Amino acid sequence: MKNVVIVVLGFAIAIQFIRPDFTNPAVDEKIALNGDPKVMSVLKTSCYDCHSSETQYPWYQNIAPVSWIMSDHITQGRKALDFSNWANIDTNMRLKRLERAKQMISNDLMPKHEYLLMHKNAVLNHEEKQLLEEFFDAQIKALGGSLSDVKEFNI
Ligand code: HEC
Repeated sequence: MKNVVIVVLGFAIAIQFIRPDFTNPAVDEKIALNGDPKVMSVLKTSCYDCHSSETQYPWYQNIAPVSWIMSDHITQGRKALDFSNWANIDTNMRLKRLERAKQMISNDLMPKHEYLLMHKNAVLNHEEKQLLEEFFDAQIKALGGSLSDVKEFNI
């Protein structure tokens, strides 16, 4: 039994040496998403930790294996939708992502559930969901798209 404890402890310590790189890329305000401060505040609280270069890291950021899961969310999240790189993203792709964002929010698929366990303030209430939906609709319109246009891209 004592040996098992030592092995488990040794393993728990050993994995701490595998540390993801959590350096945020620089943000260029000229290409980052811009919006009403109220909307930006909701996005920054609920989405930006995984969908921007403005990730705010919690105290457990360096504790493996949680750090590995976090790193994966951030890498995959930025790849799927990066609000800090907004103006550089192809217009059709932005339209697709905006439509998907509306679906994700209305189906409670984003923010991710495991993230919400540790970030209670990121849970979207009814008003915040509505605010984001109206903002995403306005963005779709500003990009010259509409729902029917976007459907052609098989989202
Ligand atoms: C904990 C990290 C995290 C948070 C917070 C988060 N997301 Fe995501 N999101 C991801 C990851 C990772 C993906 C990549 C696909 C997947 O794993 O589901 C993703 C994918 C997406 C996609 C692309 C989905 C597709 O299939 O086209 C959209 C749109 C999206 N998220 C919107 C949002 C919005 C809007 C918010 C805030 C309300 C948000 N996400 C909050 C991690 C996150």
